[in-house]
Amino acid sequence: MKEIREIIRERRSIRSYEEKPVPEQAIARILEAARWAPSALNHQPLRYIVVSDGNLIRDLSMRTIARAGKVIRWLPVLRLFKRTLRDAKLVDVMRERAASTSGDPIFYRAPLLVLAVADRKGYHAETDLGYAAENMLLEATAMGLGSCVIGFASLLNMDRQAGKILGIPRGSRILAGIVFGYPKSHPAPPQRREDCLINRIGQ
Ligand SMILES: Cc1cc2nc3c(=O)[nH]c(=O)nc-3n(C[C@H](O)[C@H](O)[C@H](O)COP(=O)(O)O)c2cc1C
Repeated sequence: MKEIREIIRERRSIRSYEEKPVPEQAIARILEAARWAPSALNHQPLRYIVVSDGNLIRDLSMRTIARAGKVIRWLPVLRLFKRTLRDAKLVDVMRERAASTSGDPIFYRAPLLVLAVADRKGYHAETDLGYAAENMLLEATAMGLGSCVIGFASLLNMDRQAGKILGIPRGSRILAGIVFGYPKSHPAPPQRREDCLINRIGQ
């Protein structure tokens, strides 16, 4: 059995998948890993929607791109506001990826999409998502599966019909998607900063 530190180092964001489906048992293990994540006040605000229908995943990609297109059209206006510069950068990144990911720059033709959904009034839900997501990513890595967090999936909140198709409860919103599948290749790790320690105090 692999040590946790090996699994942490091995995990990579995978953007190219085999057409092979993810077994039900593996899906159950991924959700179980999420269920055991810590949450603020043990509020457990997250629920999950699991999609393994390839046609629907592609449809959701198109819907996300359409929503991003609206953001792009509004960029000249949005750029007037400093806060939205970050969003502008996201759209630039997506444009780049569209050219390099066989036509699906959102969910990368992955066979499995898990959407994390939270109550709009959720307390610290975004922070809780981080812990739950990492548990899922590490569990997937331990099973030889690739994965990638898809922040762009939250654009689907702007698409009412997508909300209906997915069965998102009223008053809830998608925080992120995570795709899973068997990786076609294992990319080299992107650079990590060396200087993560600000200070070391005490013996
Ligand atoms: C909150 C969050 C949102 C992300 N959204 C996307 C996304 O929409 N599309 C994508 O390809 N990667 C996305 N990523 C993956 C990051 O690009 C990736 O983790 C980072 O480049 C480091 O690479 P690594 O995961 O291989 O270590 C996201 C990661 C996080 C944590």
